[in-house]
Amino acid sequence: MGTIKFLRDDLKFPDGIHQLFLRTEFNSDIKKVCPLMTNYPSMDKEIFLPAEQFFEQTKPTGLTFDDISLATRYSDVLPSEANLETKLTEQLSLNLPIFSSDMDTVTESEMAIAMALCGGMGLIHYNMSQRQQLKEVARVKYHVHGLIQDPITITADKLVGDVLELIDSKDFQFRTFPIVKEDGKLLGLLPGRVVKHRYRSRKVTEGMLARDEVYTVKQSEIGGDPIETADRFFSDHMGIHKLLVVDNDDKLCGLYTLSDIERIMCEAGNHLKPARDANFRLLCGAAISIPRLGNGDIDKNDLLRHVGEMVDKGLNLVAVSTAHGHTSGVGEATKILSQEFNQLSIMAGNVTSGEGVEFLADAGAQIIKVGQGPGSICTTRIVAGVGIPQMSALYAASVKAKEKGISIVADGGLSKSGDIVKALTQADAVICGSLLAGCREAPGRIIEIEGKYYKQYRGMGSLEAMRDGSAARYGHSAKDVGSKSTAEGIEALKEVAGDVTETVNLLAGGIRSGMGYLGAKNLTELKNNARFVRVTPAGQRESAPHDVIEIKNSEFSRS
Ligand code: XMP
Repeated sequence: MGTIKFLRDDLKFPDGIHQLFLRTEFNSDIKKVCPLMTNYPSMDKEIFLPAEQFFEQTKPTGLTFDDISLATRYSDVLPSEANLETKLTEQLSLNLPIFSSDMDTVTESEMAIAMALCGGMGLIHYNMSQRQQLKEVARVKYHVHGLIQDPITITADKLVGDVLELIDSKDFQFRTFPIVKEDGKLLGLLPGRVVKHRYRSRKVTEGMLARDEVYTVKQSEIGGDPIETADRFFSDHMGIHKLLVVDNDDKLCGLYTLSDIERIMCEAGNHLKPARDANFRLLCGAAISIPRLGNGDIDKNDLLRHVGEMVDKGLNLVAVSTAHGHTSGVGEATKILSQEFNQLSIMAGNVTSGEGVEFLADAGAQIIKVGQGPGSICTTRIVAGVGIPQMSALYAASVKAKEKGISIVADGGLSKSGDIVKALTQADAVICGSLLAGCREAPGRIIEIEGKYYKQYRGMGSLEAMRDGSAARYGHSAKDVGSKSTAEGIEALKEVAGDVTETVNLLAGGIRSGMGYLGAKNLTELKNNARFVRVTPAGQRESAPHDVIEIKNSEFSRS
């Protein structure tokens, strides 16, 4: 008689091989040892490296998007569940990490409205007068806000002609105005149907709906969901288009319009949620150049006045936007703005080094634009011989940004959604020029060439754009353009694309796919889960469609 025992041996060898054996013993004598399983060590950790190791090992080579690829990771994240929200500053979060570029062939109010409706933000360019830029900002901020908290009012002493002048001078897109008494109490409502040239010499009180004919709601009765309240009111009151909000003393304090509420209710079904401020207005950014006095000093008064006026309209972000941000001028302008406007998000750039990020962060920038020469229309690297391939620039910038607790945005060189995914492993958002320049909402004429339709797209450093105002961005004065200065950008064309929504949906879909492959529920997890591999020229060829005749190409699949 004796005892048989079956035992499991777990052996780990120094080279990482792990073996499992079954040992059979009879009366403590080993009778048989059978190998059950051998696990060889995973090579993944050596091939697919996190950013710190990868960029350490590749330095000092400068790498860009096509030089690298991302490894897939274990995932239980469906692309449709990925959250694209990004927090850029204490006061600014976007639902989509995409800005449209501050270029005169990309972002004016129409593009900025479209971008904010998709959850991102437009940066209104500055190749226009300050007055015009203010108007562009106002157009974005007054676009569909649900509850308008400071409606434009008129007083009883006005004529219809005065109202027409007001509409003209302020470029208002609406014609209905509440009429208030001197003390702000509601007197009536001037309907758009009487604001006509033929009535110009009539008093507004003659054509108004009197106080008891105007629908109002008390501010105290609005409740927690102001849009819901208005939606219910308009459903219950057939044919009514305006609902005014009054306080307990009957002073006017808000206005709802049916068309705004209807658009907002439609948006609720979109999977891209609009980017709005606390007052339900669309978010808007604007770029500025640095105004100078005759002696070369910064014109502080002009800078503060212009930005102050845009802030009064509700501007959410100002970008001190130049080709070389690691300069005393950009530092000083950033400091002036950050000291004056503590509720405004301040972006500055462009830089491509950790030192540049540190310099601008110390000057008060909360978001830093990274990119010198990667843009599709840029010739800075050819003309000036400077600039850093974008992924290496982003890595260098991101190391310092983490230390400083600020955000960075990847500006330029993004030609497909996969590039955006790669950029977001280091940056908190991206800035797109060429990807959006063909959209309907981009400014500029449509040109037909041999039956195909194009839109103009030009570098802000092209001679034409510098003549129109962007010379300072490249460190030149307007009078030197064409003589002492060389263009750092080209004039180009983009094939006409559809609406911004269509393009942005494709881009967002690509970002979500990337996040799904990396098992990332949100953009922080995307950064943490990213593992990089270097791609050879053969790998780059393999990455795009090859060895087939393409009969239907996808906008973002070409390299
Ligand atoms: P993409 O690649 O999106 O790049 O078309 C847009 C970004 O390029 C920058 N930009 C320029 N850079 N010369 C340059 O060196 C230029 O003329 C020029 N214009 C624009 C800018 O950062 C923009 O967002």
